[in-house]
Amino acid sequence: MSQTVTFPNGRKMPLVGLGTWLATNEQEIETAVNEALQAGYRHFDTAYMYTNEKTIGRVLKQWIDSGKITREELFIVTKLPMIGNTPEKVGHFVQLQLEALQLDYLDLYLIHAPIGFKYSNDTELVPKGQDGKIAIDMSTNLEAIWTEMEAQVNSGKIKSIGVSNFNSKQIERIVKIAKVPLSNIQVELYVYFQQKALRETCAKHNITVCAYGPLGSPGRGALYASRGVTFDAQNPMEEPVVKEIAKKHNKTPAQILLRFLVQHKIVVIPKSTNPQRLRQNIEIYDFELSSVDMGRLEALDRGDKGRTFGLDSFPGVDKHPECPYLLK
Ligand SMILES: NC(=O)c1ccc[n+]([C@@H]2O[C@H](COP(=O)([O-])OP(=O)(O)OC[C@H]3O[C@@H](n4cnc5c(N)ncnc54)[C@H](OP(=O)(O)O)[C@@H]3O)[C@@H](O)[C@H]2O)c1
Repeated sequence: MSQTVTFPNGRKMPLVGLGTWLATNEQEIETAVNEALQAGYRHFDTAYMYTNEKTIGRVLKQWIDSGKITREELFIVTKLPMIGNTPEKVGHFVQLQLEALQLDYLDLYLIHAPIGFKYSNDTELVPKGQDGKIAIDMSTNLEAIWTEMEAQVNSGKIKSIGVSNFNSKQIERIVKIAKVPLSNIQVELYVYFQQKALRETCAKHNITVCAYGPLGSPGRGALYASRGVTFDAQNPMEEPVVKEIAKKHNKTPAQILLRFLVQHKIVVIPKSTNPQRLRQNIEIYDFELSSVDMGRLEALDRGDKGRTFGLDSFPGVDKHPECPYLLK
């Protein structure tokens, strides 16, 4: 039975969801979502940027139509793309995404990142300027985008809203103007980068936290190479302390890394398209880490040095006035 965190509006988000970034092969994601539903996943994390909403939507519809699940049992999260980071484009993308997912409401909609890219059409997700660099929209107004996100909640198309990749200062700014609560933030968070300061900010404002890259996101090499960036983050599943605790509990290192976060009431969205691994990733409720185990894992935090998603992922974003890694 899946455990949940509760939003200020009373809605509940399952602590474990299926991540789907880099799962774009249609057959692969179709099989993964089917396997995940069978394994008990009800929470799915996607984004316009992942270009897999249509396939995910098709599988979800098959399950709902067959009567095997109800819409109410599902928790579907998706995100506003960076090319949609203007108030005029929010409603446009919400509508496109609802259609792709074949849903009439989203459970949670996030601003994917505080940085805007220039919109030219719906398919150019990372537009390039004539100089070959990412066409960054320097005029991003986070407060104005948030107000439009609230309008989408009021129209009934979204149940709850949140942000992703925002820093503490940006969170505080949204909290200050929010009429609809900021319910959840999705950020990189794993054993080497535990985001303690940001979690404190969130706790203060009753904002639930979702960890992306909870296993250290080891599958990014090819993508980064295509952007001319070297990926050399250390794999926390190889960490001796994690392996030792895993052995003691007869669990895998991945299960230890996920259990550690879930025990802190942090939502996790491990990505896997492999049936065995995705099952393993949700089987984390039949054991508990002791306070000693928890302490040893907490001690693995490397603070900001543990961050692996940052300026590297999109070269040039450091020029944007809302770049979350530079704003102090
Ligand atoms: N908001 C954002 O900006 C943002 C950024 C990044 C990610 N996300 C979200 O967060 C999700 C998770 O992050 P992520 O995909 O970057 O990284 P992750 O979940 O930490 O790691 C996924 C990688 O680990 C492998 N894996 C999964 N389960 C495993 C297991 N039990 N044992 C060994 N290897 C395992 C996967 O390969 P297989 O598929 O082959 O199992 C895949 O290569 C994403 O899918 C996406 O939904 C959001």
